Amino acid sequence: MSVRVGVLGATGAVGQRLIQLLDPHPEFEIAALTASESSAGKTYREAAKWRVDAPIPTDVAEIEVGATKPEAVPDDVDLIFSSLPSSVGQQVEPEFCEAGYVVSSNSSNGRMDEDVPLTIPEVNADHVDLIEVQRDERGWDGALLKNPNCSTITMVPALEALDRAFDLTDVRVSTLQAVSGAGYSGVSSMEIIDNAIPHIGGEEQKMETESRKLLGSFDGAEVQLHDMDVAASCNRIPTLDGHLENVWADTAEDVSAEDAAEAMEAVTGVDLHSSPDQLIKVFEEPDRPQPRLDRNTEGGMGVAVGGFRETTDGVQFNCLAHNTMRGAAGASILNGELLNKRGYL
Ligand SMILES: NC(=O)c1ccc[n+]([C@@H]2O[C@H](COP(=O)([O-])OP(=O)(O)OC[C@H]3O[C@@H](n4cnc5c(N)ncnc54)[C@H](OP(=O)(O)O)[C@@H]3O)[C@@H](O)[C@H]2O)c1
Repeated sequence: MSVRVGVLGATGAVGQRLIQLLDPHPEFEIAALTASESSAGKTYREAAKWRVDAPIPTDVAEIEVGATKPEAVPDDVDLIFSSLPSSVGQQVEPEFCEAGYVVSSNSSNGRMDEDVPLTIPEVNADHVDLIEVQRDERGWDGALLKNPNCSTITMVPALEALDRAFDLTDVRVSTLQAVSGAGYSGVSSMEIIDNAIPHIGGEEQKMETESRKLLGSFDGAEVQLHDMDVAASCNRIPTLDGHLENVWADTAEDVSAEDAAEAMEAVTGVDLHSSPDQLIKVFEEPDRPQPRLDRNTEGGMGVAVGGFRETTDGVQFNCLAHNTMRGAAGASILNGELLNKRGYL
């Protein structure tokens, strides 16, 4: 039987990707959509300025958008996907959890809270059981699970492969991030055309902290952050989708460029519907991956890497992922599949 799901922030850039992926999903059935007060009461077709490069699902288009509060969502909804601005998520996500809903959230609020699991199922699925601690501490029947920031998700699967084989000590990363990462009203065309913006507010800190939580160890009570040092520099560029990142990874063990590529190529997906068979695609061509050519690797759920070079203390490489698919909507759905499989719904 399918799980009835609701989507908070359903009209936004990530919300629309959630609808695109959920409509044909074999485990989930869309039962409720919410957005801001200005969208509430309209049909989804009227409220969402549909910008996905696939038709709006006809059955979803006629659903009435509700206000973003627990009372507006039917009780028989088992799972909520949240793609709200973090200031809104901060306030309403706990209200949904308190009301008994399990929330798989893409918003940045609460990701580093000690009792909130932050997961990429192929990397640290075991951290989901932090929900038991969360429920004890907060007295919730519901639960809150987070996926990381889109720029963090892009590099972490590759880092995990290196860490497992060669022990990471230091990571330096510089990003080239697509405009869709800022949401529909995030960056104006006058700002970004013929330009690059060497600042994305709060993004560096997210990459530096979330990556250490994802690669940290969970002992059943708490997550110990990985002790590697991570420093990031984030840039917005005029691509539409797909974040490209240049990574310098220092390791305790010796690693060659070939070793690093082999370790990443060996990473498989997990037994969840949205996880690709091969998580990391390795390119041998030095000028790949590229956003326009490679963002749809494995239906947008894969990570593409290339450009391996040995450095004094490790390796340098480039990585790329689709920021609204693997980096946002697809990541939340994959976490929803994990919650379902682990019996949290
Ligand atoms: N875009 C990405 O690649 C990406 C990647 C990772 C994480 N994220 C995170 O995902 C979240 C959503 O991002 P986005 O790019 O989809 O943003 P967006 O395009 O601006 O969409 C925001 C959504 O939230 C709704 N909303 C805004 N204010 C609200 C309020 N006061 N009450 C209830 N609903 C409200 C909007 O509804 P209306 O249409 O009615 O205004 C819309 O549905 C953010 O936290 C962002 O940081 C985004």
